[in-house]
Amino acid sequence: MTIPVGIIGGSALAQCAGLADVRTSHPKTPFGRPSGPLSRGRLAGCDVFFLMRHGPEPRIAPHRINYRANLRALYDLGCESVIGVAAVGGITSAMTPGQVVVPDQIIDYTWGRTQTFYDDDRRGALDHVDFTYPYSRSVRQALVEGAHYAGISVEDYGVHGVTQGPRLETAAEINRLANDGCDIVGMTGMPEAGLARELGIAYGCLGIVVNGAAGRTGNDTIHGQIGTRLERAAIDAEAVVGAAVAML
Ligand code: HPA
Repeated sequence: MTIPVGIIGGSALAQCAGLADVRTSHPKTPFGRPSGPLSRGRLAGCDVFFLMRHGPEPRIAPHRINYRANLRALYDLGCESVIGVAAVGGITSAMTPGQVVVPDQIIDYTWGRTQTFYDDDRRGALDHVDFTYPYSRSVRQALVEGAHYAGISVEDYGVHGVTQGPRLETAAEINRLANDGCDIVGMTGMPEAGLARELGIAYGCLGIVVNGAAGRTGNDTIHGQIGTRLERAAIDAEAVVGAAVAML
């Protein structure tokens, strides 16, 4: 029996079309239920659990997702590594629509989300987890090598600014994120990465740029760009994740 890899699919990978021999479960955790069913199956010959971050329709908004239940369910099912796939907006010049990116840093701008397992619900000694490098080296490496294997161009760096949503940002907010050093912006990267670290799960993010961030779309609208990119983003994301799980 191999150790399964967890895959949390977002807007850029709402379904995992290539998943074979699928069995579905509806686990409960001490933190409630995850966003949707957990699909266990084989992807590129590897044992994986796939979870839709936003759940089945109607989609759960980024600030309403039960991130703790999602991570805890994957942990309870034995996942030691998790890949979080995220559609993101591009801020810096290399991050144009269609670009695949494996970020290496995070700035968290979210608020009011439950950020930790260390509250009344959790027994055990408080651990101020080291989050200097928020993403796992091994998962990042698998994602970058997976992209190379799949023949997909990848940026293997990037500061991931995570905003509260669900509205998109203003142009001034994006300028502020750019000044802070952010390369991409999304709404779901935190607290997902921090909670994974608290559980000792090796976590990496696969970002797919689906639009220029606010004020960086040229003559296009943000939704126009997203509309034309999402389908391709899912194909690329699945190709990279499929190749990456084989390396984990
Ligand atoms: N901003 C925040 N989240 C996003 C974006 C964006 O421009 N695109 C996709 N997710």
